[in-house]
Amino acid sequence: MNKTYLPNNEKPFNPFERLFYWKKMNSAESYTVAIFVSMNIQTSKNTTKAALTAVIVSKQGSSETKGLSKEEMAYLQAQIKAEKDVVTFQNLGSIRKYFIIAASDDQDPAILELWRSKGKELQALACSIKSDSLHIINETGVAAAALAFAEGTALGNYQFLKYLKAKKDNKNSLEKIFVQDPSLKDEKLIELKGIVDGTLLARDLINEPVSYLTAVQFSKEMQKAGKTAGFTVKVLNKKEIEAQKMGGLLGVNRGSIDPPTFTIMEYKPKGAKNKRPIVLVGKGVVFDTGGLSLKPTPGSMDEMKCDMSGGAAVVGAMHAIAANQLPVHVIGLVPATDNRPGMNALCPQDIITMHDGTTVEVLNTDAEGRLILGDALSYAKKYDPLLVIDLATLTGAAVRAIGTYASAIMGTADQDIMQDLSKSGMNTWERTVQFPMWKEYGDEMKSDIADLKNLGGSNAGHISAGKFLEHFTAYPWIHIDIAGPAYINSPQSYRTKGGTGVGVRMLYNFIKNNYADTSAK
Ligand code: BES
Ligand code: ZN
Ligand code: ZN
Repeated sequence: MNKTYLPNNEKPFNPFERLFYWKKMNSAESYTVAIFVSMNIQTSKNTTKAALTAVIVSKQGSSETKGLSKEEMAYLQAQIKAEKDVVTFQNLGSIRKYFIIAASDDQDPAILELWRSKGKELQALACSIKSDSLHIINETGVAAAALAFAEGTALGNYQFLKYLKAKKDNKNSLEKIFVQDPSLKDEKLIELKGIVDGTLLARDLINEPVSYLTAVQFSKEMQKAGKTAGFTVKVLNKKEIEAQKMGGLLGVNRGSIDPPTFTIMEYKPKGAKNKRPIVLVGKGVVFDTGGLSLKPTPGSMDEMKCDMSGGAAVVGAMHAIAANQLPVHVIGLVPATDNRPGMNALCPQDIITMHDGTTVEVLNTDAEGRLILGDALSYAKKYDPLLVIDLATLTGAAVRAIGTYASAIMGTADQDIMQDLSKSGMNTWERTVQFPMWKEYGDEMKSDIADLKNLGGSNAGHISAGKFLEHFTAYPWIHIDIAGPAYINSPQSYRTKGGTGVGVRMLYNFIKNNYADTSAK
């Protein structure tokens, strides 16, 4: 184990900090122990200690289950026969909950997701009995099961409490997750920690309102993440953005009183397997009012603090990749601004000149994401990238097409790479649906008086938006429209209400599986 994080109660309050504490138990049994500690709120010493233990058993291997009386064992066997998937044993002062799940098909994404959701159920149960700890004992011999349970539990335990006066009263009791599984390597839990931290960092950033998370503050948070996880961060300020002639980002920023930022994150490990970098680009609109093409309220503007979820996914993925030291050279680009109807705001019919010299007739100032992303995609050319992936809460059309359960993807990368990404989407249950990029969709983006316009027809708006972005690319590229799953009004299992951090786990899985273990494609 090369990393030890120790909780330090002396540290000042920092909502983005999640300390993590590892301990290898000195017991005869091979215990692997992970303790998740959220240190942003002081832990209460006087919570009721009620231990909750979940034993994951396979249908066949259940006879080995320890710590049960003969009668209990017989009861358990009977329940397994009766096809029950959860059996609960309750003793005075403690609850033991037995999960019975066939472990044979562990690579099936749907089974992994079932285990994650069971992990979330455990988290809720632990909190309902005010337990500060949860023990997961995996007797199936399938390490992926223990990992998926722990993942669902840790992600499901997330809360955004920064603005509550009574933080302690509202805080989940669960603080520690113990995983006991001889087949599970420590490294796997350390890796999970990096992935969970990256996801929760993204959620925190999305859940911050623009009153705190301006573009400048967003760039500062990315700098903090770089320090924590180990990647470099350079922030271009307004002057430097002007020098880069990023007319899209500057145009969207014109109605704002806060300056824009353009953040460049880079993780370049010594033994990187890829010679040319993978570039991740994230939309960083810290609030989208629509600009002068104002969004109607109530309704369409109410959740628009989430409009930087693409940027949050990029910083979350950078965190997970760097914290786990994947041998892959990755660059993250996040153009950031709010989109407001201030005195100097872009007007419909204005014509702006983008970073690459393309002129754009702005027919709707609410189609701002493509303007700031066009600049970033054009900027990405200078890296001669192997692949560029952008993530953006880009269109309501994507939400209408597939709802909150999947992201819309499209692009110019080889079909096998697109499929590898979709596979990672399935592995992590951050599912994707691919849409075509036929030429006709792009024809809608032609303007009579400029090179492009920013508004297509009324149908399939997510595809015409994608075609607009394609104009600024000159490399294999994938666009992920996360407008649906980025932010949810009610929880979906371990995806807590609000920012979900979608994209982080998928990107990590994709980059690890396709670029870290093999020589660069
Ligand atoms: N940020 C929105 C898209 C969005 C919608 C994100 C719902 C999350 C949930 C984007 O900037 C936008 O306003 N798009 C317009 C484009 C249109 C004017 C061409 C849209 O989709 O309505
Ligand atoms: Zn908009
Ligand atoms: Zn937007």
